[in-house]
Amino acid sequence: MCGIVGYIGDQEAYPILIKGLHRLEYRGYDSAGISLINNQGTLSVYKSKGKVSALEKSVEGKDISGTIGIAHTRWATHGEPNATNAHPHFSQSKNLSLVHNGIIENYKSLRAELEKNGMTFCSETDTEVLVQLVEYMMNSHRCDLYTAVQLALKNVVGAYAIAILEKSHPDQLVCARKGSPLIIGVGTTPSGRKEFYLGSDATPIIEYTNQVIYLNDEEIAIMDRTGRLDITNLSNVKQTPQLVTLQMNLDQLEKGGYPHFMLKEIWEQPAALRTCIRGRLNVVDKDVLLSGIIDHKDKFLKCRRIIICACGTSWHSALIGKYFIEEACKIPVEVEYASEFRYRNPVILPDDIVIAVSQSGETADTLAAIQLAKEHGAFLYGICNVIGSSIARATHTGTYLHVGPEIGVASTKAFTGQVITLCLLGLAIAKEKKTLPDELFHILVDELQQIPDKMQWTLENNKDIDKFAQMFTYCKNFIYLGRGYNYPVALEGALKLKEISYIHAEGYPAAEMKHGPIALIDEEMPVVVIAPKHGMYEKIVSNIQEIKSRKGKIISVVTQGDEVVRNMSDYSFIIPDTRDCFVPMLAVIPLQLLSYYVAISKGRNVDQPRNLAKSVTVE
Ligand code: AGP
Ligand code: GLU
Repeated sequence: MCGIVGYIGDQEAYPILIKGLHRLEYRGYDSAGISLINNQGTLSVYKSKGKVSALEKSVEGKDISGTIGIAHTRWATHGEPNATNAHPHFSQSKNLSLVHNGIIENYKSLRAELEKNGMTFCSETDTEVLVQLVEYMMNSHRCDLYTAVQLALKNVVGAYAIAILEKSHPDQLVCARKGSPLIIGVGTTPSGRKEFYLGSDATPIIEYTNQVIYLNDEEIAIMDRTGRLDITNLSNVKQTPQLVTLQMNLDQLEKGGYPHFMLKEIWEQPAALRTCIRGRLNVVDKDVLLSGIIDHKDKFLKCRRIIICACGTSWHSALIGKYFIEEACKIPVEVEYASEFRYRNPVILPDDIVIAVSQSGETADTLAAIQLAKEHGAFLYGICNVIGSSIARATHTGTYLHVGPEIGVASTKAFTGQVITLCLLGLAIAKEKKTLPDELFHILVDELQQIPDKMQWTLENNKDIDKFAQMFTYCKNFIYLGRGYNYPVALEGALKLKEISYIHAEGYPAAEMKHGPIALIDEEMPVVVIAPKHGMYEKIVSNIQEIKSRKGKIISVVTQGDEVVRNMSDYSFIIPDTRDCFVPMLAVIPLQLLSYYVAISKGRNVDQPRNLAKSVTVE
């Protein structure tokens, strides 16, 4: 993962780079570093362990001037998180400094080779090999930086987004990518000259320009102060840059008065989902319009199986999507952990459609899974939030969530956005395949339209979760139970609690309890049961009885007006009634709030939990 920022132009680089690092900190916060070339031509590197704020403190009183620079916030893969392993890394002669996002898989053999040739290393990272290799190429081939980068990258196996400064050429910035994202922002300085920004995503760039270029795999770019931007591939073939206008605004990247991004994003869900369904769900004509389906109707009509690949929270939403698509479209759907799928020999048939679900659109495992499916000739559909992301670009077509940037590491609005998008997808396919009776189709369209309002109701009617959550500050374990559509919600509730409060939590299908996990129940164990008044209501009431008999504490999510489960519970969260298949979008809200407030009561950093990063661009 990690975040890269870069700048070359007329402005002072340091404030731009630091602000950019803060915006990218969600991607990793093991260490941060910055490299600048000042007006006297000195190339400096400053780095420190921990957050960007620690870096800011460490540079106080130092020379941070210069109108060209690169910066990095790290999520360590190779080498412990300390200042030595932090990026940027110097080359041996200190003529080059480099930042890197990704993993160099053959770094050991490259390092051994370079050491044989007299290069010495300071860090344990795979990254340092890159900067040394580039310098080695410059010296041994007597070539310029750009050519040396091309030569070096031809020897590299793995994933990279890199940016490099060269002390002896302070007027140019070189970058390249393969597998990890990199965006170039093209701005105009007050004097009318072009200036260039680099970012792992658009968030460090949008404040200055909305004109960007998404670098493609195996492309290398050189930018200089005269406004020159050249892009070639590794074989030195010139590429034509495609300038894209970003659809994002700065307000979406701020906390807007909330103490944390996570809480803001939880409360944003009704508005975010309204945006997601706008223009796609038409209650007047009782219609669903998804261009990805309309344009590729034949593929969906002849498709015999859908495989959905995803990770983490996106895997949970995919599971809900499976239940809905199977019910509405009568197509078998398999949901795969992308990390497993890519390394076994999955059977992918010619008429299969493979859907990738990913908030970031950059998850390395999901990207690799769809690349494998592409090699097998599958038709690829992407469900991503980040516009222009690698998965969005690698798929044949797809649907964006349009829920706005999600900054909190714990996914909230992207989860509900994915669920509603998968519901739209199911309805759009069902319409083409005519697998739902008209009357039911219309009811589902009407009901789906009401989900954002019902989410608002849920948020407003569960306001005392903060006080209630404090009771669980010292709990060591939690169990989450659900059946049918709500089993994935149980998994998601447990994941949310684990990742931000560090309390151990497990989600199970409620009826599986009796096959083992029930042995864990005692008076210390809080059991969260999602028990809406639907299909398997009676069954889940029996499951609650079984837990109560073993003195477990019941926290239930119940339908408004259901006094039975409420009276059986130690505490209940209330959600409005809706169709069984749409309950997850409401039931997950109190669970998101519960995990948020438990984590707050434990004093955790909810937006940047330990060991995690928002975008997992490494295996
Ligand atoms: C969610 O709270 C997690 N941080 C994580 O499981 C995440 O959903 C997963 O890494 C997949 O990310 P993606 O949706 O960007 O592919
Ligand atoms: N592999 C590099 C390191 O461990 C970069 C990791 C990243 O992408 O954050 O330093």
